[in-house]
Amino acid sequence: MRLLLGLICASCTAPTSHPGIPSADSSPSLADTSTPKEVVDEAAEWATPAEAVDVDEDPGVVHVELTARPHQWTAGERVVDGFAYNGQVPGPTIRATVGDTLVVDFTNETELSTSVHWHGLSVPYAMDGAGWMVDPVEPQGTFRYTFVLEQAGTFWYHPHFDTARSVDLGLYGVVVVEDPDDPAVDLDQVVVFDSVGEDEAGPDHHGVKASPLEWLVNGVVRPTWRPRAGASARLRLVNASNQGYVALDAVRVIGGDQGLLPEESDRVVLSPGDRAELLWEVGRDRVAVMGERWSLAGPGPGEPLPLFELVPSGSAPAASVSWPSRPVAPTPDPGRTDLRYVFTGSAENGWEINGQTFPSIAPDEVALGSEVILEIRNPSPSHHPFHLHGMVFEVLSVDGVAPPVRRIEDTLDIAVRQTVRLRIEADNPGDWMSHCHILPHAERGMMTVLSVR
Ligand code: C2O
Ligand code: CU
Repeated sequence: MRLLLGLICASCTAPTSHPGIPSADSSPSLADTSTPKEVVDEAAEWATPAEAVDVDEDPGVVHVELTARPHQWTAGERVVDGFAYNGQVPGPTIRATVGDTLVVDFTNETELSTSVHWHGLSVPYAMDGAGWMVDPVEPQGTFRYTFVLEQAGTFWYHPHFDTARSVDLGLYGVVVVEDPDDPAVDLDQVVVFDSVGEDEAGPDHHGVKASPLEWLVNGVVRPTWRPRAGASARLRLVNASNQGYVALDAVRVIGGDQGLLPEESDRVVLSPGDRAELLWEVGRDRVAVMGERWSLAGPGPGEPLPLFELVPSGSAPAASVSWPSRPVAPTPDPGRTDLRYVFTGSAENGWEINGQTFPSIAPDEVALGSEVILEIRNPSPSHHPFHLHGMVFEVLSVDGVAPPVRRIEDTLDIAVRQTVRLRIEADNPGDWMSHCHILPHAERGMMTVLSVR
């Protein structure tokens, strides 16, 4: 199996062609690749974020406590004077089953005005932790978030006030909503990516304007993952980076933003905020997972970086797992356009949607219960991952081409000069944020509001 992970960092610029990526078969360990020697010596161990404790005995209710506090943590060599949920980065993984009621008792023990936003989950407006003119949870304040988990898949949570800084300094965690009808696997593993050292004329990243760019995998730089040889693993990837992209090639992608995909694919690009799920048949071989450098305009330049290494324990051969596909045709594009967003701006002057800079925006209004066709054009010089709160959307087309199967998302990367057409069922009343998930872009104006009433 050939594995390729790519990164986008905003400080890298000119796109170039892909550098050669070592294959797992011909390079059984990092030592045999082009990786510098010191990487091998570090051999940091893999960390799985501890799961939140359910304090309610009712099987249909998951009730957890979540406290944001100042927290000093390490990102590789760097010490971060940051924050954490329940004292850990990434925060506790909340694991539940579709149909469960989630109750989160949140306490803010930081000096920040903050909130908890449930990225990808279509929750009632008052529970979204964000919106048009809503109040944050003030220092020493508490808030009970509660809603029914109606979607299965991999989601995440993070603040939605002072977002770029808060997420960068450690406030993020994963929500896994399991579907009992999904095929069984041996391992179900959360993999959260965060980047250190990227910089774009914005906030300091992890308190240090540092290079080179490095990735944290579940909070650890270049960890070694040691799953049992012969095991089947479902990897739930979350990109919590403020502005770095992770791309994987020659993998089995079985899930996206909103749970399992109707059909497997072999490549995924995770923009900031995005999720994907992989099916991994662990064999006998060690696999070096390399990162390819990208810029916000595309791949390159520079040599690939090691992200993590998979070292199987034992010597059982890989089991061969067949995963059911259930293809569903995409909804045909009705041709009309109800709403248009044009993404413009620059790193120097800030970023805009329809020429408006948040919070100086006029919310767009659509009728509750209507079908909204949204067309987004990106004539700007940067990729922008578009994220909508409160509702998911179906991708009708990208540059005029419909996807081969139905594609439901809540976060969609929009490349330079691309046009995408999306279909939204406006079934959730509220004043929903919609924005670029490159958090320094959102902070510098690339955010608007879709009112559903
Ligand atoms: Cu993940 Cu509006 O955010
Ligand atoms: Cu952007």
